[in-house]
Amino acid sequence: MTPAHQGPADMDRSRPTPARIYDYMLGGNNNFPADQQAAKQILAAVPEVRDAAWANRGFHQRAATWIANRGVRQFIDIGSGLPTVGNTHEVVCRVSSDIRVVYVDNDPMVRLHSETLLEGQTGVAAILGDLRDPDTLLNHPELRALIDFSQPAGLLMTGVMMFVADGSNPWRLVSGYVAELAPGSYLSLSHLTGDHKSPQAAAGFQAVFDTATEHLYLRSKTEVERFFDGLDLVPPYAGAEPGLSYAGLWGAEDLEAADTDGSRWLYCGVARRP
Ligand SMILES: C[S@@+](CC[C@H](N)C(=O)[O-])C[C@H]1O[C@@H](n2cnc3c(N)ncnc32)[C@H](O)[C@@H]1O
Repeated sequence: MTPAHQGPADMDRSRPTPARIYDYMLGGNNNFPADQQAAKQILAAVPEVRDAAWANRGFHQRAATWIANRGVRQFIDIGSGLPTVGNTHEVVCRVSSDIRVVYVDNDPMVRLHSETLLEGQTGVAAILGDLRDPDTLLNHPELRALIDFSQPAGLLMTGVMMFVADGSNPWRLVSGYVAELAPGSYLSLSHLTGDHKSPQAAAGFQAVFDTATEHLYLRSKTEVERFFDGLDLVPPYAGAEPGLSYAGLWGAEDLEAADTDGSRWLYCGVARRP
């Protein structure tokens, strides 16, 4: 496990952040009392939330591996989160050792820990950036140095667009990123939903983020599907039609075991840019 780090001196530890709450849910120790308190409040409203976090993380890893197996050799992982077991570059490098990965996150703790993790590694970079500012992000010199926009890339946006308000037009942001990528690129995206959930559980989940650094927005299946407009969704598992699935089901071999209550908090999909 990564040792706890106090983070930059000027960092606000009193407000919970999505990255540190998620780290707590996954059993990490890169979080502070405010994050732990927030995570416990979420657990009280949604007892299966740890399972949801693991279902999402499993989807992230299976989808990245699947995309690498299609021959894609470069990845942009936006809203990458704190380093955990099975980081993107570790997972895709099992497919090929010549894969390049750029991590992007707006939480300073993420960059700090990623720098430590990536020290001495070539072909991997971690940049501090806000996805709501695509121009700055896409023109970042470290990203430009590793990503060749004339070649297909894997754009990973798992568990992140739910922190972007409708007012920032999250759909236009995602389609803007995809438009920069070469044909044959892939988008992998997952998103929390309130569909088929008790209104109390959904409200309790969202309320915790009212005092966090980002608000949380649960979206319906139709709203999540819109992120893939103009792209070719792939079947989530053998025998399925192309489309979204719950997080645990994507790429699952044992569908019954994967179809858990936690998994049903997230829709996910992988789609190819024609
Ligand atoms: C729930 S974690 C998901 C981590 C990882 N993608 C995964 O699926 O396992 C959400 C991450 O998105 C990051 N994030 C939230 N809003 C962001 C923004 N506007 N720009 C960049 N990153 C953001 C958070 O800091 C956090 O690390």
